[in-house]
Amino acid sequence: MAHKDNHRRTRCGNPLSRYNADERCAACARVAGNEYPAALTLPDHVWRNPQAGGARTVSPERLWMWAIALRKREHRWLAKRVKQLNSFLYHNSLAAGGDVSPDVYLGHHGLGTVIHDNVTIGRRVRIWQNVTLSVRAPAGSPHRIIIGDDVMIGANAVVITPFEKSLHVGQGANIGAGAVVTHDVPAGATVVGVPAQVVREKTT
Ligand SMILES: CC(C)(COP(=O)(O)OP(=O)(O)OC[C@H]1O[C@@H](n2cnc3c(N)ncnc32)[C@H](O)[C@@H]1OP(=O)(O)O)[C@@H](O)C(=O)NCCC(=O)NCCS
Repeated sequence: MAHKDNHRRTRCGNPLSRYNADERCAACARVAGNEYPAALTLPDHVWRNPQAGGARTVSPERLWMWAIALRKREHRWLAKRVKQLNSFLYHNSLAAGGDVSPDVYLGHHGLGTVIHDNVTIGRRVRIWQNVTLSVRAPAGSPHRIIIGDDVMIGANAVVITPFEKSLHVGQGANIGAGAVVTHDVPAGATVVGVPAQVVREKTT
């Protein structure tokens, strides 16, 4: 029990975590000095993700969270195998290097969805099928796609950064089906088309 109590007191370092400071989350495993037990013990959100169904349900969200959790613990080989299992079962390619809130929703089991490393996804984000989130910079570089909370990304949309630059999609934005987003999207805006243009500003 001692290590669990210590762990629960460890402050969670993940800015996207929906867990409180005294609860467990994947990022805690990275905080120096914590005594997280066996390396392969997975964080609760892998099992308790409401979008991913019951604890025994296999879903692309759950496999993605699992791959990310393994990668954060430096189990790169296993993380890659779980990612491959996700691709095999659901025909997606969801990188294990992202920072993704556990309540992400993948419409139609994330069919055809491709998400690179260097992607940060906020809370309650809905991503429909065939979406691509692509960072034109090497994995591990500081350039990222940052998706804010409550964003909706429509089917077949592509979000691609300018070369070696970051791209932000503001909180509550809607990206239309088939849009190609190459620049920042303001919070609350709706963008459609190729290249994506704002058709609706934030409504209060
Ligand atoms: C972008 C979206 C959120 C806009 O919804 P909305 O706020 O209700 O906007 P409207 O339907 O009033 O459309 C506003 C304008 O954008 C156009 N538009 C809407 N969606 C568009 C799209 N994906 N591509 C191009 N133009 C689009 C409309 O034709 C309309 O143009 P108009 O003013 O000249 O008539 C929605 O159309 C959409 O694409 N959702 C994606 C959902 C999805 O992918 N679901 C998958 C389920 S399998």
